[in-house]
Amino acid sequence: TGYITYDPGFVNTGAASSAITYIDGEQGVLRYRGYPIEQLAQHSTFIEVSYLLIYGELPTKEQLENFTSKINRHTLLHEDLKRFFDGFPRDAHPMPVLSSAVAALSTFYQDSLNPFDEPNVELSTVRLLAKVPTIAAYAYKKSIGQPFLYPDNSLGLVENFLRMTFGLPAEPYEIDPDVAKALDLLFILHADHEQNCSTSTVRLVGSSEANLFASISAGIMALFGPLHGGANSAVLEMLSNIKADGGDVDDFVKRVKNREQGVRLMGFGHRVYKNYDPRAKIIKKTADEILAKISGGDELLDIAKALEERALSDDYFVERKLYPNVDFYTGLIYRALGFPTKYFTVLFALGRLPGWIAHWREMIQDPATKIGRPRQIYTGEKEREYKPLSQR
Ligand code: CMC
Repeated sequence: TGYITYDPGFVNTGAASSAITYIDGEQGVLRYRGYPIEQLAQHSTFIEVSYLLIYGELPTKEQLENFTSKINRHTLLHEDLKRFFDGFPRDAHPMPVLSSAVAALSTFYQDSLNPFDEPNVELSTVRLLAKVPTIAAYAYKKSIGQPFLYPDNSLGLVENFLRMTFGLPAEPYEIDPDVAKALDLLFILHADHEQNCSTSTVRLVGSSEANLFASISAGIMALFGPLHGGANSAVLEMLSNIKADGGDVDDFVKRVKNREQGVRLMGFGHRVYKNYDPRAKIIKKTADEILAKISGGDELLDIAKALEERALSDDYFVERKLYPNVDFYTGLIYRALGFPTKYFTVLFALGRLPGWIAHWREMIQDPATKIGRPRQIYTGEKEREYKPLSQR
């Protein structure tokens, strides 16, 4: 069978060629389609970045209007899909709920099943961008026992999501522009990150020619894990535990260094960045601003900063080039915006959605794509004879 390269975790394997996102992990550089993340964070919007990632160029005014109105037309969920939410326990984690509902979209839109039918891929793209925020808001409403709110298509994507999440049918919901802007910025910063675990999952599932909904449903489950998107919830749990134990970051860092089982500095370290994550830099600044404005500060932010300072001056972290990643400060912002800890990873999924879609489309159009099928190094038994039950 020839020579097989053993590369657990695909640390050195380039599984795709891609023109979407560029990362220089040594320098801490991140660009979407050539545009530095800092410029997009400052000047762009999530909807514009979604267009950029999927179609390769920033939209003209007309393209943006057209894209926005297409998305607005598809925000409603099929009434039967709403009934799915009744089947889950009230305390269900919202990530599997989100993944299940996205998988179910391929049962409602059977025109999506052929991945080479371009008009339908386009329609599935729009449906996903429009409906996933509605599904996410419904998952939240279900968890707190409140009625679902139909989308209001006069609102922007983020504003609509906030209203469906926090609004009530009985009273008007005032959208705080600072909150909407902060969430839009966080979505931009999460929108793509080349071949991370969930995006690789989307590509791998899609390489079997499974449809876009099925592939993205699988990507959402990959994002659920605490070493990936689940880290944003885990960071907040870690900070809350440190606070409950008296706020001693020194003691916590010692436990990390002693490799106590299950104790990692969550929100630190990255497979590609061996420098400060450029997204974390922007998020740290935003956390400062938004927390001061909305909640008048947060003791957990002080603990996070002390923890960062302590880690960055410690040989253990310096030698291993471990810096804060995107997840280190996001949870503090989500908390200030009113989201419960369990829900943070859903917000990551909403942000990452256009990146997943862009990668699936790039993968399906690439003539070099083959079904993903890694090899293995077999370490099991040599051939042996079957023994009847009476002789074992
Ligand atoms: N705390 C303590 N030690 C760490 C950490 C950490 N957060 N991250 C890495 N290390 C150590 C690790 O023990 C290893 O040391 P040694 O070589 O002595 O055994 C060394 O640093 C290299 O780590 P690794 O686990 O081989 O690195 P990786 O590239 O396989 O893993 C990672 C990357 C992100 C999974 C890992 O850094 C980690 O578990 N971080 C905490 C979870 C986290 O914040 N995840 C979010 C990642 S960024 C956004 C996203 O994808 O969601």
